[in-house]
Amino acid sequence: MLLFSGTSNPKLAESIADEVSARFGKIEHLRFSDGEIGMRITDSFLRKHVYAVQSGGDNVNDSLIELLLMIDAFRRGAAKSVTAVIPYLPYSRKEKKDTRQDPISGKLVANLLQTAGIDALISVDLHSDAIEGFFDVPVVNISPVALFARHLRKIDLANTVIVTPDMGGAKRARSFARELEVPVVILEKIRPHNSPETEVMTMIGDVSSKEAVIVDDIISTGGTLINAAELIRERGAKKIHVCITHPLLCDNAVARIEASSIDTLFVTDTVAIPKEKLSKKIKVISIASLIATEIQNLIPGN
Ligand code: R5P
Repeated sequence: MLLFSGTSNPKLAESIADEVSARFGKIEHLRFSDGEIGMRITDSFLRKHVYAVQSGGDNVNDSLIELLLMIDAFRRGAAKSVTAVIPYLPYSRKEKKDTRQDPISGKLVANLLQTAGIDALISVDLHSDAIEGFFDVPVVNISPVALFARHLRKIDLANTVIVTPDMGGAKRARSFARELEVPVVILEKIRPHNSPETEVMTMIGDVSSKEAVIVDDIISTGGTLINAAELIRERGAKKIHVCITHPLLCDNAVARIEASSIDTLFVTDTVAIPKEKLSKKIKVISIASLIATEIQNLIPGN
């Protein structure tokens, strides 16, 4: 078995390689003067099980093309199997049409990966279960709930509620609540048409004098999270912790978190966080060992 890393999150790829004791294949990543991406794979992968690790995040479009080129090279060079390890699957937030004339970007990305030639996909906390059905190859969708729960067990669980910032996250919130045996509070989020900013309108459940844990899959601009945190603080939450799997942390999200009443934000390392975006409130928990376990499970005897 051989592991290859794209340029999006090499630190995570290294941690995964350490966990599975796999050899790292060498790739020279190239950039041509017209902006096109190229690569030269200098380790032989002939008849080997190959794992291509690449995530979304910053420079998402380049990362996606880079991954497709890696898969194409592995396929054409007769790798025994090609598994894409995409901790944060790009474009997965657009998994349905909101208007008649929309693309379904998540489905297109699934088609591209399969056309390039993946045999399987390992990802983490997919935005929606429907995405698994976009693929006709095995998809492993790793849940980060147990990983976060290990850290949440340090707080006063007798007085804790899990909060979802929108209806779409209710299932995720229930998984946390089941794991920790605490109640769920649901917020209803209204997103004005075509606006990246969000507005929280209503709340089902009680947060008064509680330690609240807001859970979500993605933090992008931070709008959803900050609105949710403000609402539950107004309604009397004593402390606010947050667990978010994919820390995109776009625009001024970090400054907004710093200025907010959020006490701690736990995130995973599915997406690389540049040093300047790290803050005292942000605690990064590595997903590497969960991914490594799935790599070891996927192909017996590899
Ligand atoms: C939306 O459905 C997702 O689950 C997240 O709530 C959303 O992507 C977060 O985006 P932002 O941080 O820009 O509000």
